[in-house]
Amino acid sequence: MKKLLIKNIKGLVQAGEDLPTILRGKEMKSLAMIENAFLALEDGEVVSYGKMDDLSGIDDWRELEIIDGEGRYVLPAFCDAHTHTVFARSREEEFVDRINGLSYEEIALKGGGILNSARRLSELSEDDLFAAAMQRIERFISYGTGAIEIKSGYGLSLESEIKMLRVIKRLKREAPISIKATFLGAHAFPIEFKNDHAKYIDLIINEMLPKIAEDGLADYIDCFCERNYFSVDEMDRILRAGKKYGLIPKVHVNQFSVLGGVKKAIELGALSVDHLEEISEEDIEALKESDCIPTILPGCSHFLGIPFGNARRLIENDLPVALASDFNRGSSPSGNLQFIWSLACVKMKMTAEEAFNALTINAAFAMGLSDSHGRIALGRCSPIIITKEIPSLSYIPYAFGDQHIERILV
Ligand code: NIG
Ligand code: FE
Repeated sequence: MKKLLIKNIKGLVQAGEDLPTILRGKEMKSLAMIENAFLALEDGEVVSYGKMDDLSGIDDWRELEIIDGEGRYVLPAFCDAHTHTVFARSREEEFVDRINGLSYEEIALKGGGILNSARRLSELSEDDLFAAAMQRIERFISYGTGAIEIKSGYGLSLESEIKMLRVIKRLKREAPISIKATFLGAHAFPIEFKNDHAKYIDLIINEMLPKIAEDGLADYIDCFCERNYFSVDEMDRILRAGKKYGLIPKVHVNQFSVLGGVKKAIELGALSVDHLEEISEEDIEALKESDCIPTILPGCSHFLGIPFGNARRLIENDLPVALASDFNRGSSPSGNLQFIWSLACVKMKMTAEEAFNALTINAAFAMGLSDSHGRIALGRCSPIIITKEIPSLSYIPYAFGDQHIERILV
């Protein structure tokens, strides 16, 4: 058995036996913090924690690894509830086009964007996609990510969507952190279906979904509900079909426009509605009536220069907020959640505590991992972050761009 004691911890954060699985409104500010604390683990499972003065519960000190947490914080690791981690190559030429004045939507209309990624992906083998994605995941872990959701959506054909999902399935098996798989066949219409949307949706429903269900390749189903992408009615058809196979909706809505996708996704039992750079009063009212968690992606707003999601408005309406990276090659090339934490504070005026909870407890909820992730409690094997020596927790989002994590236990 591997025994580990972290002692003299400056602050042990979100450790407790009855912490909630979701934080709404004012609750998002609350952060349990035990100062001058210890945390004991056996084979990764929390067996004891508390004040250094009460250090107990450790009967046998033989072969015990001891980490000195002097000046350091110990935190539940971040959960990244929205990423596109499997892809073939980067798209910095589109970045240059945008600097020169084109918008993300204009680039996509020229055949760039998601379709560009789909062309590249079809050329790569499963092994190569796997190896590259695994390296990315290892990098995210070093930044403090302890669980990740990964979408398909750069396949857009039966063969390539299945290829992506098989890569994600293999990542689930071999990566050291928990992974959730989301089927995003409805990410964009391939050129050949540009004038026959119904035919592509038929392909999703009649060919992709049965195969995905048969091979157990996905946990969730996503759809990019947006002008020039999928309409609300198209999303309705796709999500209903996915639900028949047990796939829970978790969707892209309101990135550029309000089409009514939030309300529709909630009606269909969505676990989360993601993006929300744009939001209407009707969306807020629908969210209030539901258990669906709004998930904001500030990396995308930063990179595309579009509005940031209005987290304050959601919080004032007593709603929960989760944050995620949206790591992808087109709209958010960073998967570093320390940076997302900072953007949320600087650009969305979330407090350091609110943003931290949005990246941990609420993010775990947004990917169905509340039982195992997002907080520290006895008997759990949650991934845990040990920070570097830092003056306060707020220092992490404050000193943006630096690496503040010394070690992560996964
Ligand atoms: O979440 N908006 C749709 N999908 C991604 C971008 C995908 C891409 O550009 O490759 C997003 O921003
Ligand atoms: Fe996305």
